[in-house]
Amino acid sequence: PAEDVSLQKNLPFKFGAAISPGLMKSRAAYRDVVTKEFNSITTENAMKMSFIHPSANTYNWADADYLVDFAAQNGKRLHGHTLNWYKNVPAWVASFQGDSTAWEALLKTHIQTIVSRYKGRVASWDVVNEAFEENGKYRNSIWIQKLGEDYIARCFQYAHEADPQALLFYNDYGHEYGPTKRTAILNLVTGLKNRGIPIHGIGMQMHTRVNRSDADLAKAIETAAATGLLVHISELDIAVNPDNDKNMVWTAALASQQALKYKSIVKAYNAIPKAQQFGITTWNVSDADSWIPGQYDRPDWPLPFDANYERKPAYQGILDGVK
Ligand code: G3I
Repeated sequence: PAEDVSLQKNLPFKFGAAISPGLMKSRAAYRDVVTKEFNSITTENAMKMSFIHPSANTYNWADADYLVDFAAQNGKRLHGHTLNWYKNVPAWVASFQGDSTAWEALLKTHIQTIVSRYKGRVASWDVVNEAFEENGKYRNSIWIQKLGEDYIARCFQYAHEADPQALLFYNDYGHEYGPTKRTAILNLVTGLKNRGIPIHGIGMQMHTRVNRSDADLAKAIETAAATGLLVHISELDIAVNPDNDKNMVWTAALASQQALKYKSIVKAYNAIPKAQQFGITTWNVSDADSWIPGQYDRPDWPLPFDANYERKPAYQGILDGVK
C-alpha cells in the first residue's frame, strides 16, 4: 500500500536531510517526516563552530547532542557538518592572538573535542567545507591566513586521530558549474589521498536550479565518482526561482520541471558504483524550512516536501530516478 512508501525504504542508498533541532521540537509534522522518510541526518547548523564552540572554553552541546541522540534512538546515520569552515568563525577565534603553534593547537583542540565526544555515534564528518572560490583558488579564510594551505590536511589528520573509524569528507559546492572549480576540488582530494591523508569521500552540495542542464549535473557526479572516493550529494535542493522574481507563484508546470530535475540527479547518482554511494541528503525538509527564501529574499520551493509537509511531485521524481 502507498502509505508504506518512504524514501528510506524505496531507495537503494541512504537518503537524508539536514535537520534543525528547533524544528524537531516545535513542529510535529516535521519530526514525523524525518522519522518516517530518512535514514540519514546531517546537522544543518548545530555543529558549526560559532554554535558549538562560542567561546574558547565553552562548548554548547545541547543541539548537537539532541540530534545525535535522536539518530541513535531511531536507527539513523548521523553525518556531522562541519568541523572547519570560513564562515561561522566565532568572535573569539577572529580576535585570537597567537603564533602558528597556538593556531594549530586551537584548531586541533576544536576538532578533537567534538569528534571524540561523538566517537562511534557520528559515523562521518564534513571535515573541511568550501575551501575554494569559484575560480578554483583557495579562499582567503582565517585558517589559510594563519596556517597556510595545508590546514586542510591537518584538519583531516586531527579528525582521524580522534576517531579512526569515522568517514571523512571534503564538502563543497559548484562541481556542476564547469571544470574550473571542479578540477581544483578533485585535485585537492586526490592529492590528499595520494599523500596518505585520511580522506574517504567527496561531499557535493548541489544547491542547484531547475534550469541547470542534466548533462552538467551528470558530469559533476561522474567526475567525482572517478576519484574512487565515496560520493555524498550532501546539500541537495533545486531552486525554481533562481532569477529572484519577487512575485513568482508556484505552478504545476514548475512542480513537474522540478520533479524531472530531481529524477535526473538521482538517476545519475544511481549509476555510479554502489560501493561509492554514501547517499543523498537534501538541505532541510520542506519548502518552509529552506535557507533559500531568507538568504535571497525571494519566494522559492526547492525541496521535496511542501510547507505542510506533504509530498510534492519532486518526491515521486526522486523515486522515479531509480526505476
Ligand atoms: O538562530 C538564530 C536566531 O536566534 C536569530 O534570531 C536569527 C536572526 O538572524 O538568526 C538565527 O541564526 C541563523 C541560523 O541560520 C539558524 O536559522 C543565522 O542567522 C543564519 O546565518 C544561519 O544560516 C545558515 C547558513 O548556513 C550559515 O551558517 C543556514 O541556516 C544554513 O542552511 C546554511 O547552510 C549552508 C551550509 O552550512 C554550507 N553550504 C551552504 C549552505 C547554505 O548556505
